[in-house]
Amino acid sequence: MSMAKTIHPTSEKISISSLIESLRSGSNDADVIHQALLCRNEDQEQLFSLAREKRSEAFPKEEVEVRSVIELSNVCQQSCNYCSMAKESDLKRYVIRQDALSELVGFLYSKGRRVILLQSGENSSDRFIEYTATCIRGIKQLDNNIETILCMGNLSPAQYRLLKSAGADRYILKFESSNPSLYSEWKPSDTLTDRMVCLQDLVDAGFKVGSGSMIGLPGQTLDDIVEDILTIGKYNLSMMSCTVFIPGEKCNYHDHPMGDLETTLNTMALMRILNPHCLMPTTSCLEKAGANGQFRGLMAGANTVTIHDGTPEKFRELFPIYSSSRCTPDMSHMENAVLRANLKLGKAPLI
Ligand code: 5AD
Repeated sequence: MSMAKTIHPTSEKISISSLIESLRSGSNDADVIHQALLCRNEDQEQLFSLAREKRSEAFPKEEVEVRSVIELSNVCQQSCNYCSMAKESDLKRYVIRQDALSELVGFLYSKGRRVILLQSGENSSDRFIEYTATCIRGIKQLDNNIETILCMGNLSPAQYRLLKSAGADRYILKFESSNPSLYSEWKPSDTLTDRMVCLQDLVDAGFKVGSGSMIGLPGQTLDDIVEDILTIGKYNLSMMSCTVFIPGEKCNYHDHPMGDLETTLNTMALMRILNPHCLMPTTSCLEKAGANGQFRGLMAGANTVTIHDGTPEKFRELFPIYSSSRCTPDMSHMENAVLRANLKLGKAPLI
């Protein structure tokens, strides 16, 4: 596994107790964050414990939000080097039809799911965005209290407004890296500036917005990760996330090593400590990166879980964001991890 390199010499080592005290009192000093990213073993335990303390203060019910994800379409206009769904990939493309979607949502609703995440490749054609708006109206007609989250990339302000007025509640748009040159290297079909304009457009359109970064892609240093963590706090976000890079077989970075799980968990803990009121997922790629990855994500301060039972079986391997053998945790796996982390599965949206 690759460990993010550091380019600057680290400043004098701060003791773990002063590190924790600085973080507890709200410090977002770059040196403190840098050193906290390096915590391992017992020091890491103390960092995670502070993250849980902050989570408990902000979410005293000790619940995690349970989401169902439906991968609406794998049509994508982007060429991200880390993603196996890039437009150059020879995947067969699909869009789930509305009747199939309604059936699926009905099924998930009957299982008690009240938060639905619609994910798709980036496809800014008006036809697809209007179709998505129709899908959202359908979900809201079933029960207006179903919380709908979209994750579908860069769109125009008018398209965001259309989706919002159709009833979508939240939108996730990750900035992936706050370093503009790394961003352009990883995502050559796009720029960090465009991405950040979209992020602000989403906030302006009235969405509850989520963003975040990835750990372990080529060229990333610990200082870049410090900057990613600080960037989260600069927007008015309700959700944040951090994934660990998984080299999917079909992506351009398939020969690169997997990202470092410990650095990812520490990043999550720091995101939680600095933004206690945000929702944060324990993602399935954590499980791919190491044993008990998702349980450890909860111990590092996460408070949402995604159950991958929404995409119809025949489409599943056509949505290989991380890898075609992606770990898609079922309900009992998640339930187990949540209970072990002394948390409860929430029945309603947490925000
Ligand atoms: N490894 C880890 N995370 C990934 N993502 C996409 N591809 C990978 C990968 N290979 C994350 C990105 C994207 C989100 C949908 O999934 O952060 O925004």
